[in-house]
Amino acid sequence: MAQRGFIFDLDGVIVDTAKYHYLAWKKLANELGFEFTQQQNEMFKGVSRKRCLEILLQIGGITASEAQFNTWMVEKNRDYLAYIAHMDATEILPEVPKVLKYLKKMNIPLALGSASKNAVPILEKVHLKEYFDSIIDGNQVTKAKPDPEVFLMAAKQLGLAPQHCVVFEDAVAGIQAANAAGMVSIGIGEKEVLKEAHYVFKDFTEITVPFLDQLMKSTH
Ligand code: BG6
Ligand code: MG
Repeated sequence: MAQRGFIFDLDGVIVDTAKYHYLAWKKLANELGFEFTQQQNEMFKGVSRKRCLEILLQIGGITASEAQFNTWMVEKNRDYLAYIAHMDATEILPEVPKVLKYLKKMNIPLALGSASKNAVPILEKVHLKEYFDSIIDGNQVTKAKPDPEVFLMAAKQLGLAPQHCVVFEDAVAGIQAANAAGMVSIGIGEKEVLKEAHYVFKDFTEITVPFLDQLMKSTH
């Protein structure tokens, strides 16, 4: 049987950073004179920083010069980095280390597939970097999710065919990217939101060892 690989998104799957991205975007929106709601923030999940700012400015009805746009990108990231400065292992989402440990024990190759340019320092802060055989993040990808590029690059680095990879994702765009890559997609979040995923769980506490074993054997 062919080797299976598991690919994890970072923000909202491994760590609870979506709230900090939200706070940083909200701060910028408020400074520019408009509101930015949690509901609107759903659209930002899995989406690159540049695309997020484009959407934010659309919401606020603001047009910006390239120089101004870049200044706001830098400002948002500076605020985000300040929010995560004191982040530690307590911000890892429930049962994530247990699942990573089990997959490692079973010799499953693991990759990170994230849109974030801050992925590596975050993994270092929460001491999970050593679990990943391959890390693909916003510094390498050129096409943002829902394009499958990030997951296809991860599969390639693991030396596996896309159909032998399983993806854990909390974003609609991420599930679409995994599906477009021909991988098994596991949504972490609400069933009503992640409708296109092959399976959906509220969080990793709902994911059992027999289910992981089944994924290791499944053909897609
Ligand atoms: C994704 C987040 O993981 O990374 C998005 O879900 C975020 O909300 C994107 O915009 C880019 O992150 P960063 O850290 O490079 O600004
Ligand atoms: Mg995410």
